[in-house]
Amino acid sequence: MKPIIFILPGNERLGEKLLESTNAEKGNFLFRHFPDGETHIRVSSEVANKKIFLICTLDRPDDKIIPLYFLSKTLKSLDARSICLIAPYLAYMRQDKIFNPGEGITAGFFATLISGFVDSLVTFDPHLHRINSLSEIYSIPCKVFHASSLISSYISKNIENPLLIGPDSESEQWVSEIAKMAHAPFIILEKTRLGDNEVKVTIPQVEKYKNHTPVLVDDIISTAGTMIETVKHLKTAGMRVPVCIGVHAIFSGNSLEELSKSGVTKIITCNTISHNTNNIDVSELLVNHIK
Ligand code: R5P
Repeated sequence: MKPIIFILPGNERLGEKLLESTNAEKGNFLFRHFPDGETHIRVSSEVANKKIFLICTLDRPDDKIIPLYFLSKTLKSLDARSICLIAPYLAYMRQDKIFNPGEGITAGFFATLISGFVDSLVTFDPHLHRINSLSEIYSIPCKVFHASSLISSYISKNIENPLLIGPDSESEQWVSEIAKMAHAPFIILEKTRLGDNEVKVTIPQVEKYKNHTPVLVDDIISTAGTMIETVKHLKTAGMRVPVCIGVHAIFSGNSLEELSKSGVTKIITCNTISHNTNNIDVSELLVNHIK
């Protein structure tokens, strides 16, 4: 029996690619808001006993979660056999500890919420820092893909004499792996976050890499503060203008403009979140999974 892919609003580009490359059927459903702002979902595909994939990346998650929850519960009530959520970007993973008294570990709360209404989860490079594995907080099976091999082949094909740069200790896990695959050197910087929009980055001696093209690699670009601060330091150290590569293109507010203003001309991201900077396609990994 063919699986069915339901594409939530905002995920059309990736969703259509997956439909083209798998033998899955497209799930048909109406999604709209009632005049009072409440969500109305109506499924018109025959889903009984079928395997369902929901495509919904989870940047800006708060507005997406109710439609996702209602769709999943509706599909279950129509006797769908299993429901797998493909969320190429997984939200709330950075809220993995109590930073200030009175807060909660919302990474865990969010995981409990999602685990309560889908049967499994597929994602890319979740921000694992103080949480080592999704199974620590998710009670459903989780499959994690990494974009590192795709990023390293992009670098090998497009960037001459690269020096990979990770902005903080968390980034070492993927930067070192990408550097190894791209046969390139790498350095890891030290970052202190001073607030939502402010970070301080310290840079080690980079003189010997003056003839390299610096390639900043991070998992998330949100305010772009991390990248902008690093670019400043590279300039001061007399390095070339870096290429910036991020897996997840959140780009809050006018962060893309701010990053461009810092002098960067090449900003590349993966299509885990649909954005104009998407240049690395992760869909092939999902295709194999769905097949
Ligand atoms: C944090 O630890 C992450 O790996 C990224 O460095 C961070 O999320 C980037 O955020 P922003 O673009 O707001 O500096």
